Amino acid sequence: MSKVLTVGEILPLSTRYLLDHGSESPRLDAELLTADALGIRRLDLYLAPERPLTEAETRTLRETLRRRGRGEPIAYIRGRRDFFGLEFSVTPAVLIPRPETETLVDAALAWVSRHNGDRPTTLVDVGTGSGAIACALAANLPTSRVIATDISPDALAVAARNVTALGLDGRVHLMACHLIDGLQPDEHPDLIVSNPPYIAESERPLMDAGVLEYEPVGALFSGPEGTDATFELIEAARERLRPGGALIVEVGTPAQRDRVRARLSERLAPEVHALADPGGIVRGFLVEISPCPEA
Ligand SMILES: C[S@@+](CC[C@H](N)C(=O)[O-])C[C@H]1O[C@@H](n2cnc3c(N)ncnc32)[C@H](O)[C@@H]1O
Repeated sequence: MSKVLTVGEILPLSTRYLLDHGSESPRLDAELLTADALGIRRLDLYLAPERPLTEAETRTLRETLRRRGRGEPIAYIRGRRDFFGLEFSVTPAVLIPRPETETLVDAALAWVSRHNGDRPTTLVDVGTGSGAIACALAANLPTSRVIATDISPDALAVAARNVTALGLDGRVHLMACHLIDGLQPDEHPDLIVSNPPYIAESERPLMDAGVLEYEPVGALFSGPEGTDATFELIEAARERLRPGGALIVEVGTPAQRDRVRARLSERLAPEVHALADPGGIVRGFLVEISPCPEA
């Protein structure tokens, strides 16, 4: 019979294992997986250092540590990830929501409060994946209507679960379509927000193995320069936004970012606002189209 280990004993062993297997956050990962195996919160581990793990808990932990050790992202192992203070279910059908995307949500909320106040607003999240952006917006803008599109039915199934779990049924409308092609012909949104696929094919060899092996390829790459989806969205936004409406898009490498900035100012409006994260890195752009339709 193998020795029964306590929480206080298993944590350093698990941390060591993950460190040896290339995790960049071995202690945090070990704590999260241990807490999940025990069905408790991470902070509660510190209240129970003497608690022995049952055989079943040890088996579960061993299996999840093995998966993490093979490079599987912790969010897929746990089946969830926090974004903008909300918890989202994630599966390999969706991109794991990233903290940098919260910069776009902040910008969208600020834009709505500046331009629409409490008036009802129609927002579209293009390429919603887990529904992260759409749900964060809907949760913070109670009078808004949010449409969330994605080309992947599997991603939309995950988004649907999140919409329901977050109590946003009837507030977030999911739509399977290419970019915004599924909008009604007379639908002219106030704001389009998107974190589209934007990685250049040429970057594939440089990418983190965990991302490449586990995250959905359709969420990542977009043509030789990483601009195909974004450029197409810019044209669609030009046609569909209401006069005075705005587009917010996430961007990637400096080269891709510069191409997008140039295209936005050429096709939508000369003034392109850079959206920087708290570390000063530009994560996206906001462009408002003219309030006068013929201008
Ligand atoms: C980078 S992920 C973003 C997911 C989510 N919005 C987030 O920020 O976590 C891009 C998403 O766009 C979707 N997508 C890719 N091409 C698309 C297209 N042509 N039309 C609609 N959605 C698309 C993918 O399926 C994927 O869910």
